[in-house]
Amino acid sequence: MPSIYVKEVHNNLFLLRVDDHITKYFEGIWKIPEGIAYNAYLLKTENGCVLFDGWKADFTEEFLNELSTITDLDNIKYVVINHAEPDHTGTLKSLLKETKYKPLVIGHPMTKSLIKALHGVEPKFRAVKDGEEMSVGEEILKFVYVPWLHWPETIVTYLEKTGVLISCDVFGGYSIPKEIFDEDPEVVRNYIPYVRKYMVNVIGHYRDFVIKGLNKLRDSGIQPKIIAPGHGLLWRKEINRIIREYSRWDIQESIKGKVTIVYTSMYGYVENAIKEAISELKKQGVNPVIHKFTDKYRSNVGDVLSDLDDSEAIIIGTATYEAGIYPIMKYILTLVKEKMKGNKPVMIITTYGWGDIAGRSLRTELEDLGFKVVSAVSIHGTLDQTSIEKIKGGISLLLKELSS
Ligand SMILES: Cc1cc2nc3c(=O)[nH]c(=O)nc-3n(C[C@H](O)[C@H](O)[C@H](O)COP(=O)(O)O)c2cc1C
Ligand SMILES: [Fe+2]
Ligand SMILES: [Fe+2]
Repeated sequence: MPSIYVKEVHNNLFLLRVDDHITKYFEGIWKIPEGIAYNAYLLKTENGCVLFDGWKADFTEEFLNELSTITDLDNIKYVVINHAEPDHTGTLKSLLKETKYKPLVIGHPMTKSLIKALHGVEPKFRAVKDGEEMSVGEEILKFVYVPWLHWPETIVTYLEKTGVLISCDVFGGYSIPKEIFDEDPEVVRNYIPYVRKYMVNVIGHYRDFVIKGLNKLRDSGIQPKIIAPGHGLLWRKEINRIIREYSRWDIQESIKGKVTIVYTSMYGYVENAIKEAISELKKQGVNPVIHKFTDKYRSNVGDVLSDLDDSEAIIIGTATYEAGIYPIMKYILTLVKEKMKGNKPVMIITTYGWGDIAGRSLRTELEDLGFKVVSAVSIHGTLDQTSIEKIKGGISLLLKELSS
């Protein structure tokens, strides 16, 4: 049985949260041993109930059961879909069936065709305009388009009277926080790294839209008292904390002094060179984050991206493999291209047998992305003293790039 929370989080606004320990790879890619939570909300008004979003289909039975504990399903007059991705709409079809398609479904104009395509449902549908307001009982709902946060049709709903922003993917994060709200500083501290990972993995591709979306929300005068996302913690004590976290891409904030090393090694040649780099970094007072892909260990690629994204500087180590970059590094590079901005200093360490193609290709690819390659050390197989000196020199160039 998954953990479930059903709780009134504000007057007549109920959270329905389920903790998903089943999903091992979010979107089928991102390994999340930390899990993820889905938040749906129910607003009770004197003029009927409004349901906001839903859960992943794996939890349909639980969703309908829990919803029935807070309202008779017949009272659900509206279903607002902030974003049609199945982690929030997996329960829609069953809900519509149970309610005999009575509720009016509300969303972005694209949502109508998306829910038909994804779930085969064609309910009564009202497409809202950007900024449109709608009264329900004593509450006023304001719908704001935030395209590409995370899909083209994403909207957020602001409850104007109570100051609650129901934001779906925006301001969300991975993991299963111990609390519902952000009241406990330790819970927030533990949660933030998962917000960062979620941001890079899930919406990193759309980072310019994140900046635009946040500016738009601010400019439309929305100053929420509560931020109620579709994943993870709800925010009311430290609203600025989560807004700042999401604004980080705007202000290019990285963690001061953080250096991340990512390397692959088939037989230990790259690893030996990386060991030299680590030892030199430590001598200079820097304790790097290390991710490796070897014959004995594989890091989590989602964590790799998260660490690369908030680092000040990066070291990449790999070998030439069949006249190209080692395939796992190629894959990581593809994700870096998709999800990150190339705005950091990088040191490259490559080893090869009969031609350093990896070194040359990596440099070109990283520079094309905008990274500043401060040093590229190419090693013919076994590490020798000359290469060690080059690595030390490279580290010293890299560290010069860190903010003091
Ligand atoms: C399956 C395989 C394919 C390789 N392909 C190439 C290649 O195309 N060109 C090259 O110069 N070296 C090639 N090498 C040699 C490696 O690049 C070299 O041994 C390197 O030092 C390996 O480092 P690692 O064991 O730390 O991964 C290959 C090695 C293996 C095992
Ligand atoms: Fe999404
Ligand atoms: Fe989501």
